[in-house]
Amino acid sequence: MKNIPFEIIGHIMILRKTEETEIMENFAKTQMKNHHYIRTVLVQVSKIDGKERKRELKFLLGEEEFETTYKEHGNSFLLNPIHTFFSPKLSYERQRIASLVREKERILNFFAGVGPFDIAISTKQHTCEIHSIEINETAYSYLCKNIVLNKCQERIFPYLGDAFVLVPKMFLNKINRVLLPLPLEAEKSLPMAYESLKDKTGIIHWQITNHVQKKQIRKEDVEEKIHKILRNNNIKCNFVIRTTRFIRWIAPRIGHFAVDLHFSN
Ligand SMILES: C[S@@+](CC[C@H](N)C(=O)[O-])C[C@H]1O[C@@H](n2cnc3c(N)ncnc32)[C@H](O)[C@@H]1O
Repeated sequence: MKNIPFEIIGHIMILRKTEETEIMENFAKTQMKNHHYIRTVLVQVSKIDGKERKRELKFLLGEEEFETTYKEHGNSFLLNPIHTFFSPKLSYERQRIASLVREKERILNFFAGVGPFDIAISTKQHTCEIHSIEINETAYSYLCKNIVLNKCQERIFPYLGDAFVLVPKMFLNKINRVLLPLPLEAEKSLPMAYESLKDKTGIIHWQITNHVQKKQIRKEDVEEKIHKILRNNNIKCNFVIRTTRFIRWIAPRIGHFAVDLHFSN
């Protein structure tokens, strides 16, 4: 049998459209027989696209139930993959960031989605205050539900809206750590994230994409990219790249990377 790339989110299996429907159905039936928790099969027929990072998913087999609960590291995330972004592949990155957070930090996530990064942090580090912004109404509604589901309502504060509007109004000079999990807006979000840091000091978890041959990015190239963005925004500051990490391939020779930046006075 042909191997078809797939991912599983809760009870939903999502197949990449690589074959004819009959071949896809046979593959899905075998997977459902071997893994009884798969009850719905969807086919991804478009790339992840647009600012809400959604993809077109078509129903193939099983139950027509598209809301699901995904569990990881003791957390549960309720979501509908047709209407919201979610990727199990970011699980390690969520745990990595959560393990870096220290007590009593004030954290801001520009692009929260259904809340997986913020909930991962909040359930590990109970003394932090996390502000989570999301523009997609459906994702925001799941974010609110997930905050309650994971008992984080005293520590995570959700906002429905555009981060580029809300951050200058509410968060300038207030934050210790910023999450920017949206490479599409990497260039635009970095200067504003810097302005939100308290006393121009703190950590920014930046995500970018870059043309690369291997799963590596040169620190000098990232540094140059950052200097250029800061220069274009008239920002003079000190920063150090603490970590660069390959997350995944998003297209042939286009890597998705996490970059941890430490800013100081
Ligand atoms: C790549 S997804 C990441 C979501 C979440 N952090 C995760 O890892 O599952 C980016 C999210 O940012 C949201 N978004 C895009 N532009 C935004 C903006 N200007 N302000 C707030 N949220 C935005 C999208 O709707 C989407 O849910």
